[in-house]
Amino acid sequence: MPASRPLESGRPRPLRKPLAKVEADPRVQFLRRFLARPRQVASIVPSSRFLERRVVRLAEPERAEVVVELGPGTGGTTRALLRAMRPDARLLAIEIDPRLAELVRERVLDPRLVVHCGSAEHLRAALEEAGLGAPDLILSGIPFSQVPRAVGRSILRAARDVLRPGGRFVAYQARDRVAVLGREIFGRPVSELEIRNVPPMRVYRFEKPGEGAGAPR
Ligand SMILES: C[S@@+](CC[C@H](N)C(=O)[O-])C[C@H]1O[C@@H](n2cnc3c(N)ncnc32)[C@H](O)[C@@H]1O
Repeated sequence: MPASRPLESGRPRPLRKPLAKVEADPRVQFLRRFLARPRQVASIVPSSRFLERRVVRLAEPERAEVVVELGPGTGGTTRALLRAMRPDARLLAIEIDPRLAELVRERVLDPRLVVHCGSAEHLRAALEEAGLGAPDLILSGIPFSQVPRAVGRSILRAARDVLRPGGRFVAYQARDRVAVLGREIFGRPVSELEIRNVPPMRVYRFEKPGEGAGAPR
């Protein structure tokens, strides 16, 4: 197909969806980052609206003062969190891929959001750098089945250590690695399946015991 069709006047008619628009589409950018770093991104498309809604329902960001998101990708889940959060709450999004981190900074303009580029393993340092206290909620999109078990455990321990007592760790995953590792660190999760997503995902919610309760080691 030709890139443009001549008008009767002789001037070329612009494409229906110019290339620049296609390039700016977050789904295209997500796919590009998947092709560049398949194990790290681990999904060819961002989460669906259905998954975003289910995650938000289980995570209850409206009950949080400080929220952390691990692996915001192109920022769809970040926006879903912000829509539900209180006006005075804060969100720290930690993304390992510098291009995706930059994309979230450019696309999600909200004074409550701080985007940090780095690994979720260094969660405590990122919170300190942002001047934030203990989070009530940590939401994770990290593909635990694709990262070495030692790294997965280290992220989960970092999450448990920084969460305030009674706080929650919510993760959405196609495989059950996060459930297996998370059980060792937090105890049993509650979970729900969302089939209206590519691929279908299970959402797990773990809780850190409140003050006075015996925390799992
Ligand atoms: C499956 S995508 C989820 C993206 C987005 N939250 C969504 O639902 O569409 C996983 C994201 O986690 C990021 N990621 C992977 N390992 C990470 C790590 N150790 N620390 C921070 N982000 C990481 C990837 O770069 C990617 O953006």
